[in-house]
Amino acid sequence: MDIRSEIAARAERIEAVIAGYLPKEEGYQKTVVEAMNYSVKAGGKRLRPMLMWETYRMFGGRSKVIEPFMAAIEMIHTYSLVHDDLPAMDNDEYRRGKKTTHAQYGEAMGILAGDGLLNYAFETAVKAFEIEPGNANIGKALQVLAKKAGVHGMLGGQCVDLEAEGKEVTKELLTVIYHLKTGALLESSMLIGAILAGATGNEQRQIEQAAGELGLAFQIQDDILDVTSTIEVLGKPTGSDEKNHKATWVALGGVGQAKQEVERLSKHSVALMDALVVKNEFLTRLMLELMQRDR
Ligand code: IPE
Ligand code: IPE
Ligand code: MG
Ligand code: MG
Ligand code: MG
Repeated sequence: MDIRSEIAARAERIEAVIAGYLPKEEGYQKTVVEAMNYSVKAGGKRLRPMLMWETYRMFGGRSKVIEPFMAAIEMIHTYSLVHDDLPAMDNDEYRRGKKTTHAQYGEAMGILAGDGLLNYAFETAVKAFEIEPGNANIGKALQVLAKKAGVHGMLGGQCVDLEAEGKEVTKELLTVIYHLKTGALLESSMLIGAILAGATGNEQRQIEQAAGELGLAFQIQDDILDVTSTIEVLGKPTGSDEKNHKATWVALGGVGQAKQEVERLSKHSVALMDALVVKNEFLTRLMLELMQRDR
């Protein structure tokens, strides 16, 4: 099987795991649940659960305890997108090939659906305790899940990203923004996989660093696609960054330089993975494949 088919096959299995954890669309609050599920079911690459699962397997993890965390990280990521698209933030109308949640359900429901997904992510992740009641690593994984999504992770990055709009920024500040707004959830994904599989402290640190580098590369590639791709391929509008006067790697140094940076960071990330004793060939191939992604 080629790498793209292998990725697609895994994404399909991940979809099934996520679907099994989605809340039921019933009760007086049915609308917000529908809006939550709308954005999750719209699709997406499912990269974060894929990285989590493969890192878990890499360190010998074989239990279903990873599954609620896989669903939870995708819920948190999807919430970040729902809120990122709101009029007060990037103000975008399409996501994952469909109308954004606020465009479909109204702004108030968009806000609530994002909040709902964030909260439901934790309601879901704690179900890991039902699968392995005595597993102390679950508590550690929850700490990572919470911290990397919050003010010292993704949400903090969104704050700095918004405040940098229209300003000239240094590469250092841009790196801080990318590391937080995008890197943090990739770190969360891979670190949780490592923790739940019982990786050592040194292995965890190495994984976190590799994921951080991958996150930087991933966000720079996202910026490149914002100027080089089309809405049909991406499923979200192009030109969003220019519209919002975003500080991006492309705005700073152009597409050519940005592409070089994606390659450098991706290869460095894989080199960090290769330095570990345990291996997962699919995972490193996936990490390299992301350099060529067109969506
Ligand atoms: C988009 O993430 C937001 C960024 C951090 C760049 P993805 O490109 O992973 O979006 P989906 O999940 O595939 O829709
Ligand atoms: C997104 O950055 C980072 C998030 C935490 C959501 P972008 O604003 O560039 O993501 P897209 O391009 O809208 O997916
Ligand atoms: Mg944004
Ligand atoms: Mg955006
Ligand atoms: Mg973008």
